[in-house]
Amino acid sequence: MITDAETRTVTAATTGERHMLLDPGMDLTLRPMRYPHFFDRFKEAIKNTWTVEEVDLHSDLADLAKLSPAERHLVSRLVAFFATGDTIVANNLVLNLYQHVNSPEGRLYLSRQLFEEAVHVQFYLNLLDTYVPDEKERFAAFAAVENIPSIARKAEFCFRWIDSIFELRELRTRGDRRAFLLNLICFAACIEGLFFYGAFAYVYFLRSRGLLNGLASGTNWVFRDESMHMAFAFDVVDTIRAEEPDLFDADLERQIKDMVTEAVDCEAQFAEDLLEQGVSGLSLADMREYLQHVADRRLVTLGIAPIYGSQNPFAFMELQDVQELSNFFERRVSAYQVGVSGSVTFDDDF
Ligand SMILES: [Fe+2]
Ligand SMILES: [Fe+2]
Repeated sequence: MITDAETRTVTAATTGERHMLLDPGMDLTLRPMRYPHFFDRFKEAIKNTWTVEEVDLHSDLADLAKLSPAERHLVSRLVAFFATGDTIVANNLVLNLYQHVNSPEGRLYLSRQLFEEAVHVQFYLNLLDTYVPDEKERFAAFAAVENIPSIARKAEFCFRWIDSIFELRELRTRGDRRAFLLNLICFAACIEGLFFYGAFAYVYFLRSRGLLNGLASGTNWVFRDESMHMAFAFDVVDTIRAEEPDLFDADLERQIKDMVTEAVDCEAQFAEDLLEQGVSGLSLADMREYLQHVADRRLVTLGIAPIYGSQNPFAFMELQDVQELSNFFERRVSAYQVGVSGSVTFDDDF
């Protein structure tokens, strides 16, 4: 049965009538291309192609053996978060985002992102298989969303936002579209842009102490992918804002701020758990400030005033932002000559 929305899309394709990005349907028309910036992001993403086999984690085993009990606790909690985090993101992408971003070039990007999330899942699977040789411990790590309260809380936050639009087949009303926007912003700003960025900070802290370079080298790839996922999602938000500015009002802004505040609280609770035994060189106060700083950056990107006014206390993350990644990327280009040409810019929204 053909629905009204499909009829409208078919009509739009044949008559050239414009529809908006969130209008229901399966637009198939790539020429003329309505959102070429989405296609550009798809091509950019392909330049960051990598495989799990390129990342050697075995050099980390000697480091793991010399960690203090407090550091070992941190790493075990961190890998338990990684065990399911990307699968949750991939599920939202398929169940919610792909359905409603009605642009074939936008869906090209989302297909690419789905592939990247699958590579991340494989990377963390490999990580746990390598780091946690004991089978019982490994099963417990994969069940963290049920057993470890700080991870269960983050998962509950994600599931609640997945469920918030799961029943919506089409975005027909203003309320539907705002619900979609909140889901999209949640996954970009709070989950990829805060939960994952928080996790990366622990990895780069350890690297700054000369530890777990294998994990850090894989994280460089994931970090860059996640930066692009976020940038694409914010592009979608900007596109919707240009098409339907009335969706963005004080009420939506308040809902976004509430959501971001809750995400910071979730991630701060996770930090309390990771750092509960006291890791030398990484204080809970600094971690909180860092999370607040990142959250503020996400809000500013969305055109919303920052909540916390916090600075980035981690010099090792500044270094990550600019220097290390670009060096790393250039090294790879010269070493492998794979698919990368032209200049590469790095996430400055950090
Ligand atoms: Fe991911
Ligand atoms: Fe992602």
